[in-house]
Amino acid sequence: MSSPITNSILNKHQKIERNVSILLVLSLLVVTIGGIVEVAPLFWIENTIEKVDGMRPYTPLELAGRDIYVREGCYLCHSQMIRPFRDEVERYGHYSLAAESMYDHPFQWGSKRTGPDLARVGGKYSNDWHVQHLTDPRSVVPESVMPPYSFLADKDLDTKAIGAHLIANSRVGVPYTKDMIATAEADMKTQADAAADSKDFLKRYPKTTVGDFDGNPNRLTEMDALVAYLQMLGTLVDFSAYNPTQDDR
Ligand code: HEC
Repeated sequence: MSSPITNSILNKHQKIERNVSILLVLSLLVVTIGGIVEVAPLFWIENTIEKVDGMRPYTPLELAGRDIYVREGCYLCHSQMIRPFRDEVERYGHYSLAAESMYDHPFQWGSKRTGPDLARVGGKYSNDWHVQHLTDPRSVVPESVMPPYSFLADKDLDTKAIGAHLIANSRVGVPYTKDMIATAEADMKTQADAAADSKDFLKRYPKTTVGDFDGNPNRLTEMDALVAYLQMLGTLVDFSAYNPTQDDR
């Protein structure tokens, strides 16, 4: 099988393999070149996240709901990343774009799916369905193994810290304006109140649902915030205007 040429190459390689110092130096050289080829392009491209229309920072109420989602460990059973495979796209909808989690600190992609992916659950069910499901999952899905979270409807939402929370997010790059920070607490109440004047609020946060989320308009609860967050998931990007060839390699 082996020709004289392959033999001579093998002999040379034998020298490298038998000399630890040469092997080490050459290995380092190869790894360095490989590393530079992988890393260097990142210094010349402007952004690793493709631009898509429709993304906006979370409203204060959604952000508070997101905190409850993280606090309760929903990510332990639910992912928020639809992979670009046919079975996932047919079940959950368009695969997730990097831009869709650009305002997530930390992101909620997850890798565990005891329950279904939630990246596009917004608008799939009514608010009432979510409240019923979170209160007693088995009353709507008899075979469910999801724990109940009925206590959320009994806990008043903390509205005091939200301004500081927006500031913290703006420090890590979420484009909350001074205006948004100043009105955070009021915006939170406006979103959960169907009777409130929401014109200015909707200018700050387009594509937002306003109204009572937990079925109890007299109280602003953690249930309101969590349902507002769930109803927004995956609804911000307008896929009829999105051209996927831009980001497909
Ligand atoms: C122990 C695992 C587990 C945890 C923790 C969990 N879930 Fe679930 N979840 C499930 C399972 C299983 C299902 C599918 C059955 C069902 O609909 O109840 C589900 C379904 C759902 C659905 C319906 C999704 C759809 O497309 O039909 C939503 C919404 C949801 N969960 C939200 C949450 C939220 C919010 C939390 C945290 C407060 C949470 N889950 C915590 C296991 C879990």
